[in-house]
Amino acid sequence: MTQGHSRRGFLKKGAAGATILVAGGLVWRAWDNGVFSAGDGPAYQPWKDWQTEETSPPLSLVKAAILSANAHNTQPWLFRATDRRIDLYADLSRNLGAFDPYRREMFISLGCALENLVVAASYEGLSTDVELMPGTLPPPAGTAMTLVAQVDLAHGTPAKDPLYPQIHRRHTNRGAYASGRKIKPDIISELEQAVAGHDVQMALFPRGQQWAKLGGVIVDATRQIVSDHTMAADSAKWFRFDWDDLQEHRDGVTLDAAGLPPLLAIGAKMLPTPSSKTSDLQWLSATRDVHVATSAMLGMILVDDLYGREASLRAGRAWQRLHLKATELGLALQPLNQPVEIVDREYELGKTPLMAADLAQIAGSVDWRPTFVFRMGYPDRPASPSPRRALNDVLLT
Ligand SMILES: Cc1cc2nc3c(=O)[nH]c(=O)nc-3n(C[C@H](O)[C@H](O)[C@H](O)COP(=O)(O)O)c2cc1C
Repeated sequence: MTQGHSRRGFLKKGAAGATILVAGGLVWRAWDNGVFSAGDGPAYQPWKDWQTEETSPPLSLVKAAILSANAHNTQPWLFRATDRRIDLYADLSRNLGAFDPYRREMFISLGCALENLVVAASYEGLSTDVELMPGTLPPPAGTAMTLVAQVDLAHGTPAKDPLYPQIHRRHTNRGAYASGRKIKPDIISELEQAVAGHDVQMALFPRGQQWAKLGGVIVDATRQIVSDHTMAADSAKWFRFDWDDLQEHRDGVTLDAAGLPPLLAIGAKMLPTPSSKTSDLQWLSATRDVHVATSAMLGMILVDDLYGREASLRAGRAWQRLHLKATELGLALQPLNQPVEIVDREYELGKTPLMAADLAQIAGSVDWRPTFVFRMGYPDRPASPSPRRALNDVLLT
């Protein structure tokens, strides 16, 4: 064998070896970061065993409550449960910092949990008497937890509520929607009925002039958040891009829930964790080019007391109910609450309330103020579940 041949042979073998190593490394990285296990593991178990026969009220109601929507998947709740009553507390340590300076979104999240709990109770034959604790936001600094609602339970008649089976099917859908597919008037009135009775107002904007204005405000608010380092950093604390991290903490916003097309999602999981700046810029472009651009409708939930605890809880109950109803009707929903986050931030920093003025103009009201902004449409793809903490982590003894 000549020297040239042996070097070529060596190089060939070396290249093959390197390919195997790289491929092996990629497979390892893919496996290690949960590419083949989306939706599996302890962090996702609460979605699978929420209806097991061994669990009965009151714990089955708490199991339903923790599957609700909640800001950044912070799961800011604690429950004290007896046969006669469930007390719902805010765990104020699980907050979003400057991203939610008045804890308004935290209280909306607690309202979402309350609604799931009430829907599950009535399905299980229990009547509920819900008392919302009054007060203003934010709760006093230094408070660790605060009672937000008490639910008295009594025997009633089981209601075959079609919203109940949606509890584990409902997921925030951040993917593209079929923007050309309109939502028909009869579907819209079913959605409107779902939120009636919670003492909130809802405004819906089908594609058109007001839709474009609100879409522009959502993108502008996202841009402002991305350039506000404190807000962006406080938000990033709840990103869980690493599989082990996600399985350990069982909370936060994950890559699987980002609504990426399947191949892109695999690629994103195999790449090293992006910097906060990169993921902020990706969020900004997704907001503009996917979230707003493909929505069939944008909407708002409005309250008469933006920094009231009860009003925020009522808004959360309305959102959860709307999302359950939308799930039943085959629609996808995603909150796009950046404009109200900027309203809070302007207020906190004593800035001119420009964003509040923009929203009031679109809403056509000053007495009722938007507390929650969202999009709606028919999904291109189903959404993935987000992690949840275990029952034991949220129960007070
Ligand atoms: C008050 C509140 C604000 C939210 N804001 C946003 C938002 O601006 N963008 C978004 O994609 N999701 C938002 N969400 C959705 C949560 O991130 C989501 O509910 C959480 O990650 C759990 O996921 P799941 O709804 O699929 O169970 C919000 C939810 C609530 C209750």
